[in-house]
Amino acid sequence: MARRRVKGIAFDMYGTLVDVGAVAETCNEIAPDPIAFNAHWRAKQLEYTFLLSLMGRYQDFWRVSEQALEFTTRQFGLDVSPEQRSRLMEAWLHPRPYPEVATALSRLKERYALAVLSNGSPKMLRTGLERTRLLEHFRWVISVDAIRLYKPSPRVYQLAVTKMKLGKEEILFVSSNSFDVVGAKSFGFKVCWINRTGAPLDPLGPKPDLVVRTIDELSTEPE
Ligand code: 2OP
Repeated sequence: MARRRVKGIAFDMYGTLVDVGAVAETCNEIAPDPIAFNAHWRAKQLEYTFLLSLMGRYQDFWRVSEQALEFTTRQFGLDVSPEQRSRLMEAWLHPRPYPEVATALSRLKERYALAVLSNGSPKMLRTGLERTRLLEHFRWVISVDAIRLYKPSPRVYQLAVTKMKLGKEEILFVSSNSFDVVGAKSFGFKVCWINRTGAPLDPLGPKPDLVVRTIDELSTEPE
């Protein structure tokens, strides 16, 4: 991919820089199959963001995650105490970065201005990035909260253009979430899909410009 014109890189947060699967460990104490429980929780959380945006309503990502948790515990027929519920939610404030992320970001920031563009609420993003020590790599931490709309609304991707003061063709958007890849590409960004698991590409929408397994591969790719 020609990266000559790229001046800035905007990263998705959850599933891209940090592992949402790590939240599953906290689900161990309440769910017999914590991986399935966590996958359902995550799917419901995203479904609620899509629904809210379509309905023209907004609740921040923390509240959406709480409501998705409430639904998922009922769906799985689990009895969860208020303390367990808050421990599960707290896991979102203690995300685990993928192993290569810190080194790859320090390499990339020598050549590009870096941003996070995420559905996460400002508090979730700041706390998560501080605790993982990733914050120092980013010039901008951009939450959809500023416009009270979720990805993949084009207005969310426009927010990065506005904040980063770059043209859309000068921004490379990086995400592991395929709905986000399709949304960002449809908006007009150059897009890199981080496909860690070898998942099939969603046939809906335009294809990403670049597909890699890790952010490391992106940082060591030739221009
Ligand atoms: C994010 O915006 C979609 O979870 C994803 O960080």
